[in-house]
Amino acid sequence: MTEHPSTTQCAGVKRIGLLTGGGDAPGLNGVIRSVVLSAARLGWECHGIRDGFNGLLAPETCAGQPVQRLLEVDVHAIGHLGGTILGTTNRADPLRYPTRSSDGNLVEQDRTPDVVSLCRARGLDALVIVGGDGSMGIAQALHAQDLPVVGVPKTIDNDLDRTFFTFGFDTAVGFATECIDRLHTTAHSQHRVMVVEVMGRYAGWIALHAGIAGGAHAILIPEIPYRIDALLDAIAGRDAGGHHHAVVVVAEGAQPVDGEREVQAAAEAGRAERLGGIGALLAAQLAARTAKECRSVVLGHLLRGGSPSSFDRVIAARFGAAAVRALAGGHSGVMVALGLDKIELVPLASVAGRTKTVAVTGDTVATARELGICLGDGR
Ligand code: F6P
Repeated sequence: MTEHPSTTQCAGVKRIGLLTGGGDAPGLNGVIRSVVLSAARLGWECHGIRDGFNGLLAPETCAGQPVQRLLEVDVHAIGHLGGTILGTTNRADPLRYPTRSSDGNLVEQDRTPDVVSLCRARGLDALVIVGGDGSMGIAQALHAQDLPVVGVPKTIDNDLDRTFFTFGFDTAVGFATECIDRLHTTAHSQHRVMVVEVMGRYAGWIALHAGIAGGAHAILIPEIPYRIDALLDAIAGRDAGGHHHAVVVVAEGAQPVDGEREVQAAAEAGRAERLGGIGALLAAQLAARTAKECRSVVLGHLLRGGSPSSFDRVIAARFGAAAVRALAGGHSGVMVALGLDKIELVPLASVAGRTKTVAVTGDTVATARELGICLGDGR
């Protein structure tokens, strides 16, 4: 394991807290299992915190014990299961905790000092926080308040910096690819344009990887604003070549050169904006400007469900074990990360608040172009 020089040393850990935050992703249970088993080998107690930080900040909202010791038997045969046995929420960010003000409005409040004191009150020497970019920001804030913390990178979106992959991404791409494969045959049979909308927030990783893997004819990602005319040209070009169907994969965060991304629900206290709707919009626009039947499919939360792929199971296991190893080595303020050939420790400060987007000049985008896939920019 590579140890980054700027990480802080912490010692004397005997009892750790473990929580999963943000949206669920396949592989969370594998991380939980790995943390619990690795901690047990060191003679440490591992306590599971339910529903993200609500297990500490709003225990009355949790179904079951808000904080509960996890024994080896509790994590028996869960590594292959989707979801998280600890529960999770994206509405309990302690840095922006939704709180009712005296005038009845919901406002955001920094409750990280409460998290630190509640951990101390429960005798937790350190926390393992499994989550996305928001969770890594929280982890960094807790570390800055002298609570030993190690982060584990989770998200189907793969948009966390400093790690080649987050767990959950491979499973999401695998499922999206299977869906695209299925859509090809129906699109081909009925000479239709099928538009497939996938998650990913402000990054196009899922769309790009699944689109290439599934042989999509067009892929639209947030990193490359699109022109509808470029898409129409690509469809017309296929028609001219005798191919009267097309499969278009669009990331939920994709946006036209001259417009905005589609937002389903605006941000509110304690909650980020919810994207979605671009697939249906595109299908309607393409239908209006071609003689074709155009249909849209939103894969949405299907991408998050189901069993983790073997790749995600292995990195989930490696991440969990590495998080415990990091604490045992006296580290805090770090995230375990997938390096080229090993798990590395990177400072949380270098991850928090950043979004890893697709490199538009990178070889994966170049490959898509070389395969003749339309990326919406007419190149
Ligand atoms: O971050 C993972 C993710 O699945 C995004 O791709 C998506 O925009 C978001 O979560 C959806 O979250 P929710 O289920 O809370 O609407």
